[in-house]
Amino acid sequence: MTSVLPQEIAAPVRLSFPQGFRWGAATASYQIEGAATEDGRMPSIWDTMSREPGRVFRNHSGDVACDHYHRYRDDVRLMSELGLGTYRFSVAWPRVKPDGSGPVNPRGLDFYDRLVDELLANGIAPMVTLYHWDLPQVLEDHGGWTNRDTAHYLADLAAATIARLGDRVATWTTLNEPWCSAFLGYASGDHAPGRREPKAAYLAAHHLLLGHGLAAQALRAGGARELSITHVLTRVDPQNPHDAHDRDAARLIDGLQNRIWLDPVLRGHYPADILPLFERFGAADAIRDGDLETISTPIDLLGVNYYQPALVRAKVGAVGQANYPGSEGVDFPPQGLPVTGMDWPIDATGLSDTLVRLSRDYPGTPLMITENGSAYHDILEGDRVADPDRIAYFDGHLRAVHKAIERGADVRGYLAWSLMDNFEWAYGYDKRFGLVYVDYDTQRRVPKDSARWYTQVIRDNGL
Ligand code: FCB
Repeated sequence: MTSVLPQEIAAPVRLSFPQGFRWGAATASYQIEGAATEDGRMPSIWDTMSREPGRVFRNHSGDVACDHYHRYRDDVRLMSELGLGTYRFSVAWPRVKPDGSGPVNPRGLDFYDRLVDELLANGIAPMVTLYHWDLPQVLEDHGGWTNRDTAHYLADLAAATIARLGDRVATWTTLNEPWCSAFLGYASGDHAPGRREPKAAYLAAHHLLLGHGLAAQALRAGGARELSITHVLTRVDPQNPHDAHDRDAARLIDGLQNRIWLDPVLRGHYPADILPLFERFGAADAIRDGDLETISTPIDLLGVNYYQPALVRAKVGAVGQANYPGSEGVDFPPQGLPVTGMDWPIDATGLSDTLVRLSRDYPGTPLMITENGSAYHDILEGDRVADPDRIAYFDGHLRAVHKAIERGADVRGYLAWSLMDNFEWAYGYDKRFGLVYVDYDTQRRVPKDSARWYTQVIRDNGL
C-alpha cells in the first residue's frame, strides 16, 4: 500500500463505536471465485443465466470473475493490510455438492478449508454464508426453490460444510437475502433462474425460509456458536403519511420487503396481512404443520443488508412492481434524492431507522450490518482510484449506524460491501462496489481511497 492518505484520515476521532465492534467486508462465491469448472464444480443457476444472451450486461459471466479461487492467498493478505477483523464469504453449493443433493465433493470443501486457515493465520474471523444465490442448476431442473426438497438439501449442505469447517468457523449464516432469491429469481426474473411466476415466488419464499430453519438446526447440531440469517431490509415510507391509502401501500411493501422474512424467523408466524398473498397466488398449501416451528429455530444474530430507502404511494391502476408480487395499486415515485451508480437513492437515515425498528420490534436478537456500500464509476489512474463519493456514502452510513446504537439498537458489527469489485449479477462487471479496484484484464488489485479511509476507521474504531 502507498503512503498517500486522503484528507479525511487526519481528522480527529469524533465518534467511537462500542468496544469489540466487529469490522470487515463481504463477498459471495459466484461474484468473485471464477474457476467455474475446476475441481468438480458443476453449473449453478447463475452459470446458466449468464449464458442466456441478453440476461446479463454484455453477456458477462462468473467464469473467471476475480479469479479468487486461485488468488485467495493474495486476497487474504490484502484484507490483513486493510485491517479487516471479519470476512464474510459464501460457499458455492455446486462446488461442495456438485449434483445438489448427492455426495460431498471433498475438493470443493478443500478450497474453503484452505481459505479459512489462511484467514485465521492472518487474524481474520471467517463468517460463512451457506447460500448466496448459486443454486446447483440440477436442483433448478427439479423445480429449484419451488420444490420443498431443496430446503432439505440446504440442510444437508449445512451439515457437510460445518462438519469440515466447524472446528474453525464460529459464525454461520444460512441465507443471503431470500427476498432476492424468491422475488427477483422467480417473480421479476431479473435474477437467476429468471422465472416470472408469482406463484413460484411465494413457494420459493416459503421453501427458502424452511431451508433456513432446517439448515439452522443442522448447523446447531454441528456445533455452530453463532447462527444467523441475512436479509435486505429497509424503511418504507408512504409518500403522504396523512393519506390512509399511501399508508396501506407502505404497509404492503414493508410486508413484502421486511416482515414476510422477519416474522416467521423471529416470531414464528407469517404476518397476518401477508398470508392472504400466499392464498391468492395458490401457494398456501406449501405451508405445512410444524414448518413455522422449524423456521423459528432460535438464532443468535440478524444480518442486515442495507442499500436504499423505499417510498411508495397508492395509485389506482398502478401495475405495481414484479419484484413485489401482489403490489398492484402501488406506485414507486421518484425519491428526489442523490443516487449512486446503481441509481439507488442515498439516505442513511433509512439505515438508522431500520436498525432501531428491528431492535424495537424484534427485541433480543443482536444485529450486524452484513452488507452496505455503493457502486460508482471508478477510474484507475496510475496506482490510485479516487472515490470520494464512496467515502461519503460509507461515512454517512457509519454515522447512521452510530446514531442507531445511541438510540438503543444492539448493533455488533459492520461489513462493507464489498471487499473488491466483482460480478454484480445482472449488471456483470459494469458496477463496481469494491473497496479494492479489480483490473479484470490483469487481475491486479488496487485499494481505492475508500479502502485506506476504511482502514483508518477500523484502526480508530470510530470516525
Ligand atoms: C446485495 C447482494 C450482493 C450485492 C449487493 C450489491 O443484494 O447480496 O451480492 O450484489 O446487493
